[in-house]
Amino acid sequence: MKIGIVIGSVRDGRIGVQVANWVHEQAKERDVAYDLIDLKEFDLPVYTSSRVPAASDKNYGDDRVNRWSGTIDAYDGFVFVTPEYNHGVPGGLKNAFDWIFPEWWSKAIAFVSYGAAFGFRVIEQWRPIVANANMFDIKAQLSFSTMIDFEDGILTPAQRHTDEVTRLFESLEAASGAMSTLRQ
Ligand SMILES: Cc1cc2nc3c(=O)[nH]c(=O)nc-3n(C[C@H](O)[C@H](O)[C@H](O)COP(=O)(O)O)c2cc1C
Repeated sequence: MKIGIVIGSVRDGRIGVQVANWVHEQAKERDVAYDLIDLKEFDLPVYTSSRVPAASDKNYGDDRVNRWSGTIDAYDGFVFVTPEYNHGVPGGLKNAFDWIFPEWWSKAIAFVSYGAAFGFRVIEQWRPIVANANMFDIKAQLSFSTMIDFEDGILTPAQRHTDEVTRLFESLEAASGAMSTLRQ
């Protein structure tokens, strides 16, 4: 089983890398493999294809998108490390989600949000979006405030977050295993 931790901000100077690195670090001692997937490295174009992703047979006519497709396809579950932009989902990550479809199908997903106001709203927006790909979104989530959980721009999570992320991993791994039976 492999879980991908997706860095959902592609902004220059993004703080999301710190959040994703912390999640990755916490997963180090687990029996399941957790990898960082940096969306920015894929340099995805804006979705303009005439073909619907569900009918594209995992070939999107663009090397950058095909690389994204192959990467996501290889994972059983995901942690989206997502900022909240304008009370909603960040456009870059939504665009990346929209480009492909069977690669997400019947997999499990967890959310870690951050923002001035914790990013609770962005997770509530992601949940109905991922449902369209028949994904199982686990209840456990983490939400960091840039006002409370960062000191001088550096993420400084409280001990309770370490406990929370352990519960998130346990639930996500169980859900990822269960969802794999739907893909056989
Ligand atoms: C376009 C934009 C919109 C934002 N909207 C929100 C918001 O709705 N709620 C919030 O809590 N923070 C908001 N912020 C502040 C972000 O939480 C903060 O800039 C954070 O660093 C963004 O994550 P990133 O650096 O990983 O991209 C916004 C930031 C940007 C750039």
